[in-house]
Amino acid sequence: MALLIRGGRVIDPLLDLDDYLDILIEEGLISRIAPRIEKEGVPLLEAQGKVVAPGLIDMHCHLRDFNERRKETIATGTRAAALGGFTTVVCEPNTDPPMDNAKTLQRWIRLAKQEGCVNLYTKVCITQGRRGEQLTNLKALVRKPWVVAATDDGSPVVKDEVMGRAFVKAREHELLLTPHCEESRATIQAFQRANPLIPLPDAIALYKREPHYVARDLMLAEKANWRVHICHVSMAESLDLIKKARARWVPVTCEATPHHLTLTEKDAGKCGPDAKVNPPLRKKEDVEALRQGLRDGTIDVIASDHAPHTPEEKARGWEEAPMGAIGLETTLGVVLTMLVHPGIITLAAAIERMSSNPAKILGLPGGSLAMGKPADITIIDLEEKWVVDPLSFASKGRNTPFTGWRLRGKAYATIVKGEVVMKAGELLV
Ligand code: DOR
Ligand code: ZN
Repeated sequence: MALLIRGGRVIDPLLDLDDYLDILIEEGLISRIAPRIEKEGVPLLEAQGKVVAPGLIDMHCHLRDFNERRKETIATGTRAAALGGFTTVVCEPNTDPPMDNAKTLQRWIRLAKQEGCVNLYTKVCITQGRRGEQLTNLKALVRKPWVVAATDDGSPVVKDEVMGRAFVKAREHELLLTPHCEESRATIQAFQRANPLIPLPDAIALYKREPHYVARDLMLAEKANWRVHICHVSMAESLDLIKKARARWVPVTCEATPHHLTLTEKDAGKCGPDAKVNPPLRKKEDVEALRQGLRDGTIDVIASDHAPHTPEEKARGWEEAPMGAIGLETTLGVVLTMLVHPGIITLAAAIERMSSNPAKILGLPGGSLAMGKPADITIIDLEEKWVVDPLSFASKGRNTPFTGWRLRGKAYATIVKGEVVMKAGELLV
């Protein structure tokens, strides 16, 4: 089926393009891009006054499913993605059961094919059961094109020796590692409760914060000469380490989330458990450093870390509530309102961090509007004003720290392989 996108402001950071152009889609691919295209019998999608960008890619999402369908499913999660303007989503492997074996991966692939309404990829676990002891069998898990990286996201691989071997294996199988670099205090406290013979101060002493693991993983990447992408960087000190490693040619990229780019620990206090995330919200100076890192290119990617939990779980109070915030339906609006409209980054830079760069880092087919590319396209209304109301979301999650925020800018249409899956807030799948 063909489609003609008419008269939008087309921005493609990879092509260094910002111009008023028409785009013709044929057989799921971008077949022409020119100032004016006439083609009889082809349906028109009017994009006047809107921005036409390469489809947004969220490279850090928890779509749950399996035994956690109460939190989110591939069906609800990908619909939330389509509403948020994402044509592609990469799932984290801390599912229940975790993605640490070929059988579970096969089950996920079946679900992704049947129920996903945007392009889906996944990461797999670094260690069995995410316990940080035995490496998974990467050879059996590198299923192309579905598997794009490995991580124990949710927690770091604590043992240096295990992570060192993971880098060697990852290089052997040419698989990117995307480590989660924050030990959670809650995890340590739970560990202590389960092992009451270990006194709490000793358990807390085991607790290591982000820069510790960032420094270690940069060192291991350098030693193995293999790529690393640091998930959800949240501290100024981590960014400094990444900058210095880059200067030594360590192959490192990194991402930050909309919440770490806009909220501080003070907001967490005000907002309550919906702002309880891992890594936690930090100080004002960290937020400033992240924004600077976004400006100067140290931060390659903005990723949502969409992490749905049930309202009951989040109602347990700060200490007991699980960590995570949803983000698929707010990320674009928050980025436009808080970072692009105030001039912290340009619109082209935002599109680069949310489309071209994730595609490049993961080797995905999208990320550009060049002729012959898959027709994965996000049309953005920069001016639409709206108020965040999680009750209206397609996601099953309601846990967002942005409830009630007035945002300016929203996805107007989401086109996946030439098919319009969302237009003007309506899902068409
Ligand atoms: O806040 C978080 N939630 N951080 C993580 O690393 C894991 C995630 C989850 O799975 O809920
Ligand atoms: Zn994480």
